[in-house]
Amino acid sequence: MLYKIVYFIFQLFPSLKKWFWKKWYTVLANKADDPDLRFMNYGYLSEKLALTLNDEDEKDRYSIQLYHHVVSQIDLTGLKVLEVGSGRGGGSSYISRYLNVKEMIGVDISPTAVDLCNKTYNINNLTFQVGDSEKLPFDSNTFDAVINIESSHCYASMDNFLLEVKRVLKPGGSFLFCDLRRKEYLDEMLESLNSNGFNIIEKQDITPNIIEASIKMTDDRKKAIKNLQVEGWFKKILESFAATDGSKVHQSFKDGYMKYYSIYCQVDK
Ligand SMILES: C[S@@+](CC[C@H](N)C(=O)[O-])C[C@H]1O[C@@H](n2cnc3c(N)ncnc32)[C@H](O)[C@@H]1O
Repeated sequence: MLYKIVYFIFQLFPSLKKWFWKKWYTVLANKADDPDLRFMNYGYLSEKLALTLNDEDEKDRYSIQLYHHVVSQIDLTGLKVLEVGSGRGGGSSYISRYLNVKEMIGVDISPTAVDLCNKTYNINNLTFQVGDSEKLPFDSNTFDAVINIESSHCYASMDNFLLEVKRVLKPGGSFLFCDLRRKEYLDEMLESLNSNGFNIIEKQDITPNIIEASIKMTDDRKKAIKNLQVEGWFKKILESFAATDGSKVHQSFKDGYMKYYSIYCQVDK
């Protein structure tokens, strides 16, 4: 019930939603300052995906698999790539180390998260900077591909975000994203893409893959939350936020209230 009230308030006041999520991720980056925590997504599990990872990346396998599932729909070799909502940087780091991109830039609205990334990663073709999805700090026609993983639900306006993605993409560029939505808002999201000039090449309901990955990640996520030494309602909210098995968010995926989609689009040449 509490979640439904919060969603309703966010629908009425989108700028409050944006403010809330910025605060939330900044508090989280301050509280969970372990640079080894590199991802904040629900992960992806599929028997068809057999990724070979370096030993140091194995602990992040399911989160990396979510990135891989989304971005491997195109060949990123030699491309200039932007990630919007790069969080703790694990995804941008994976792409820059494994996928032969020319340049990788991660932007995030949380200055604390960006500071953490700049201290954690020292990779030649990878940089991080503060930026708002609805006012991207780049010239028009700059990137070959824009990536967006589990972040767009935080934005005040999906339309404003898409206008910005289209502006910074070169003609014919690709937009690769995934995120969760309440099932009644899926059509709205698809309509936003169509009306803003994105041609949908592939659209997949990956909710079952998210549910399975979240189950596998539950023990590790619970340990990470325990290390934060929080108790009571805040601990419960964090577990739900992390979609651990048995939490409200996990249940809402299982009962179909929430859906999780991955979408690959292109803008016109
Ligand atoms: C669930 S986390 C996902 C992070 C990362 N993509 C990952 O998979 O680990 C969502 C991220 O979106 C960022 N974010 C939220 N609102 C944003 C905005 N308006 N502009 C840019 N980033 C934003 C948050 O600060 C957070 O780091």
